[in-house]
Amino acid sequence: MRFDVITLFPSMFEGALSESILKIAQEKGLVSIHLHNLRDHTLDPHRKVDDRPFGGGPGMVLAPDPVFRAYEAVIEEMGGAVGVRKVVLSPQGRRYDQALAREFAREKALLLLCGHYEGFDERIRLGLPFEEVSIGDYVLTGGEIPAMAILDSVIRLLPGVVGDPASLEEESFSAGMLDYPHYTRPREYRGMTVPEVLVSGDHAKILEWRREQALRRTKEMRRDLLGPEGQGDRDTSATQTGDRS
Ligand SMILES: C[S@@+](CC[C@H](N)C(=O)[O-])C[C@H]1O[C@@H](n2cnc3c(N)ncnc32)[C@H](O)[C@@H]1O
Repeated sequence: MRFDVITLFPSMFEGALSESILKIAQEKGLVSIHLHNLRDHTLDPHRKVDDRPFGGGPGMVLAPDPVFRAYEAVIEEMGGAVGVRKVVLSPQGRRYDQALAREFAREKALLLLCGHYEGFDERIRLGLPFEEVSIGDYVLTGGEIPAMAILDSVIRLLPGVVGDPASLEEESFSAGMLDYPHYTRPREYRGMTVPEVLVSGDHAKILEWRREQALRRTKEMRRDLLGPEGQGDRDTSATQTGDRS
């Protein structure tokens, strides 16, 4: 899958793209990631991409021309707009979640546009075919961290990226629930012991325990994930996920 990012700060991506799964996915040739500096698309002799807001007020606004030019150049480089999902990062957009990550992972190409300062001149919203996506109800300095969150969450869903695909099926949100608790060695740590069932060798029982724990944890932490039926169920019994002796 191809990813293109238009940003004022391409170097912010260096760390995220050169470690762990994102690095391996690129090395395996499963993804290609292309960073485009917005400043390369301004006609301003000082490479300026922003200006003061009409009507006054604080901050600077990203001007339309560099963004339109960057969009057109990148789309041309990508071989045309067909099959490219175009996303602008914005706190005002549709809330990003695992379902949207899965949707993006089915695309051929993803183009991410990062804002900065007070955000974009409104004509960028009106004149370019971007869908707005937010990573949550809080305001960040720029779209780079949201873009990295999207890159990471989409890339790890692509076939061949994560070693054992079962880990993707079992993790939080995949079955509409949170993940079950995990334990590793030692069996006892500071008075807390690993639940007996996990060392019983009984795979059917382990599966059942994990399902119960996932449901219990979801009811406790994120009842909204269970929909109106689950939310009506007010059972908040047993919250313990490990054995404390
Ligand atoms: C300081 S913010 C602009 C906020 C804007 N004035 C507002 O109040 O809606 C600058 C840029 O950061 C990015 N950004 C900030 N918070 C974000 C969020 N929660 N999700 C996605 N992008 C975000 C966007 O690209 C935005 O254009």
